[in-house]
Amino acid sequence: MKKFLILVIILISANSFANDNDWGKTGHRATAEIAEEYLTEKAKKAIDRILNGQGLAFVANYADDIKSDPDFREYGPWHYVNLAEGETEYDKATANPKGDLYQAILKCIEVLKNEDAPADKKEFYLKMLVHFVGDLHQPFHVGRAADKGGNDIQVRWYNQGSNLHRVWDSQMIDSYQMSYTELAENTRELTRAQIKAIEEGAVIDWVYESGEMADELYDSVEIGEKLGYEYMYHHLPTVLKQLQKGGIRLAKILNEIYG
Ligand code: ADE
Ligand code: ZN
Ligand code: ZN
Repeated sequence: MKKFLILVIILISANSFANDNDWGKTGHRATAEIAEEYLTEKAKKAIDRILNGQGLAFVANYADDIKSDPDFREYGPWHYVNLAEGETEYDKATANPKGDLYQAILKCIEVLKNEDAPADKKEFYLKMLVHFVGDLHQPFHVGRAADKGGNDIQVRWYNQGSNLHRVWDSQMIDSYQMSYTELAENTRELTRAQIKAIEEGAVIDWVYESGEMADELYDSVEIGEKLGYEYMYHHLPTVLKQLQKGGIRLAKILNEIYG
């Protein structure tokens, strides 16, 4: 019995440490699935060819899956971009020379637009793009460097130790207990004008938008605070809107590349 209990404790803690660095798998897949609804026929065909028929949701977590492989270590900093508190301009001069989320998205677009790029390279960068546009819409992926985008802000999620970044990456979505397809099917109905407003702007504008959201959300918790139902009630609608915006904008980028 004691051995069994120890095993259960190990399994539970292993599970809580895993996957703590991104919109969880469900969030990334939901954004990718929403994007599928907004693709033009031409873009769909081009993507189908590149991904050999695999859907965008199927490849949405590839960029996380390769993180544990030392051969892909260089892509680690590509998942986030930091803006200091109140910083309103992305400064290329002070940007991370190893790359960041903004540079990553531009690089993916550049490769996918290049007709001479080999097929395997296109496949790699398309998978990365699907993931990164998701990351861009998790506000704390455009958080402050000083606390690693909220990773160093300790809170409790129900009865479990956690941090602000992880609550926004995965814990609200996981607690909601909807599959990615259910999330994609239950997005808010938008008017043509609302969709257009979401599509408006360039990648850098979306960076600033997430940065401003993060700036405000830092004040949504006290250090060490126990978060749960009430926090979900206030902030899950924002998470769901971000997943939808990410999907619409990912489709916009892909439609422009393959249009
Ligand atoms: N993940 C790891 N480091 C990070 C940072 N500085 N900002 C956002 N997300 C991160
Ligand atoms: Zn994250
Ligand atoms: Zn990521």
